[in-house]
Amino acid sequence: MSIKVPESDWFKPPAGSERLWVGVALVWCMIMFLAMPYWHFKGKQNATGESYAVTPAEFMERVTRFVETNKVGEENGIPIVEPSPGGDAYLVGQMWRWYPILKLKEGQTYRLHISSVDLQHGFSVLPININFQALPGYDHVITLTPTSKGVYQIICNEFCGIGHHLMTGRIIVE
Ligand code: CUA
Repeated sequence: MSIKVPESDWFKPPAGSERLWVGVALVWCMIMFLAMPYWHFKGKQNATGESYAVTPAEFMERVTRFVETNKVGEENGIPIVEPSPGGDAYLVGQMWRWYPILKLKEGQTYRLHISSVDLQHGFSVLPININFQALPGYDHVITLTPTSKGVYQIICNEFCGIGHHLMTGRIIVE
């Protein structure tokens, strides 16, 4: 119960410049609201991809099987893996590395599965602007077609502990 009871006809509809500014704000809200779906389809931004539920152990099993079947080399103890064109490629984020090193062919399309086996990591490819979240429990699938040759560095852009700044990986496109 308030000390003073408001008058029963307290509401005064906006008039004059108040009416104008409420109108401007409303129109701007609608523009921003419509910009979201527009930019989703027309803007050159990251694809939304697909996600599937997977346990970290199960995902790690798939990664191990993928590495065993497609390994073509090794660098500093990290396997270099070449998936078959059009096939599945796996990349796992864990404290503090991206595993394994992927070797892809230019112009070929791959289904890249990304996940984490411990906590949240940020999959980020340099120097191009590709950013995805790697979350334990989710198999994030990106349909990827490399369009130019080169060595691409992967970093982690989600703070994940003391070794966060050392969490790197690589994708080689030939
Ligand atoms: Cu992983 Cu930061």
